[in-house]
Amino acid sequence: MRMVDIIEKKRDGIELTKEEIQFFVNGYTDGSIPDYQVSALTMAIFFKGMTENERADLTMAMVESGDQIDLKKIEGIKVDKHSTGGVGDTTTLVLGPLVAAVGVPVAKMSGRGLGHTGGTIDKLEAVEGFHVEIENEEFIKLVNENKIAVIGQSGNLTPADKKLYALRDVTATVDSIPLIASSIMSKKIAAGADAIVLDVKTGAGAFMKTLEDSKELASAMVRIGNNVGRNTMAVISDMSQPLGFAIGNALEVKEAIDTLKGEGPEDLTELCLTLGSHMVVLAKKAASAEEAREKLQQVINDGSALETFKTFLSSQGGDATVVDQPEKLPQAKYQFELEAKENGYVSEIVADEIGTAAMLLGAGRATKESTIDLAVGLMLRKKIGDEVKKGDSLVTIYSNFEDVSEVKEKLYTNIVLTSEKVNAPVLIHGEITN
Ligand code: URA
Ligand code: CA
Repeated sequence: MRMVDIIEKKRDGIELTKEEIQFFVNGYTDGSIPDYQVSALTMAIFFKGMTENERADLTMAMVESGDQIDLKKIEGIKVDKHSTGGVGDTTTLVLGPLVAAVGVPVAKMSGRGLGHTGGTIDKLEAVEGFHVEIENEEFIKLVNENKIAVIGQSGNLTPADKKLYALRDVTATVDSIPLIASSIMSKKIAAGADAIVLDVKTGAGAFMKTLEDSKELASAMVRIGNNVGRNTMAVISDMSQPLGFAIGNALEVKEAIDTLKGEGPEDLTELCLTLGSHMVVLAKKAASAEEAREKLQQVINDGSALETFKTFLSSQGGDATVVDQPEKLPQAKYQFELEAKENGYVSEIVADEIGTAAMLLGAGRATKESTIDLAVGLMLRKKIGDEVKKGDSLVTIYSNFEDVSEVKEKLYTNIVLTSEKVNAPVLIHGEITN
């Protein structure tokens, strides 16, 4: 087989075989096929697209390019959730304990964040003593006992995707739905998921800015999952503004605790109940989304979701007393209010720019090497559609330095007020099943 023939075939719009896809993925991973040939192929894919079979074959070839996590020793159907990324997205912290409390095994492999705020591990490390450096056996034992554990990324997962993603980044071929969909799905499958719930974000703060593109990506991922034997569904959710109020690591842990108590922000709560219901159904712990939702509401009301969170934290060395005494979480030295300069209604909160403002405070990483400040961040006091009086606080800024003028300027530019009444955005834009 020759790479040049594969490029030519794709250039001419002819479907590639499974063997041809495996040939290029394996050859690229082991270095026998050079970057320039793979660049040409990804550009041809960008223009010609991929059939449903090609997408499934590419996904599985990338899964097989490295290690695969074996979760067979964990009882039950392992359902993973994946979000295409947003700002202040606290859902993972809430969903883990929430669905675990109704018996869904949560065996989560997580990473650290780049940009905006930290990843799930960074956020959890705001809890004193909590760590994810545990052995595989311990991880499996904890999931069987407590239904939830989080482990750091280890092993050589989907090396083909790592190389390909880096190449796409510098060859203007990231924005290809078949390539994005297979990239995301390969990582979930290699991490051991039996079933997958996707949270595909849409709007200004999302990777996909339009509803049409978000639906197309969601549907591409759902079809890949189901074609390779993983029950998969997607929820399209709004990211035209940050989710919840908190953006920042310790602040988001506090927000997750509030939400598990039933006292969280409305949008975050609703999204967690929606995604959680589908996870419970895919794990076969309820027959319908309605029944699943009742079960989730029940574990919030009777405190068992919160108990599960405490057990999870202490089992991995964390100080679970923070759940009842959140003041023990890292605290910033200073708090400043961002006061509204006029009366009006909030019409825009540009999510990614707000994320960047949090990063300027130190809540996120500008580069992989940056260290993050777990205490700092932002608490939104108003959301889109809220009425505002001059002098009201729009945002509370939690900082460890005194001069936050740059942050304030960024916030003023990206929180837009108008004189006409504005409706709050719809949170759930749709659901996609096979
Ligand atoms: N996120 C991924 O993991 N892969 C892509 O290709 C794009 C976004
Ligand atoms: Ca949040």
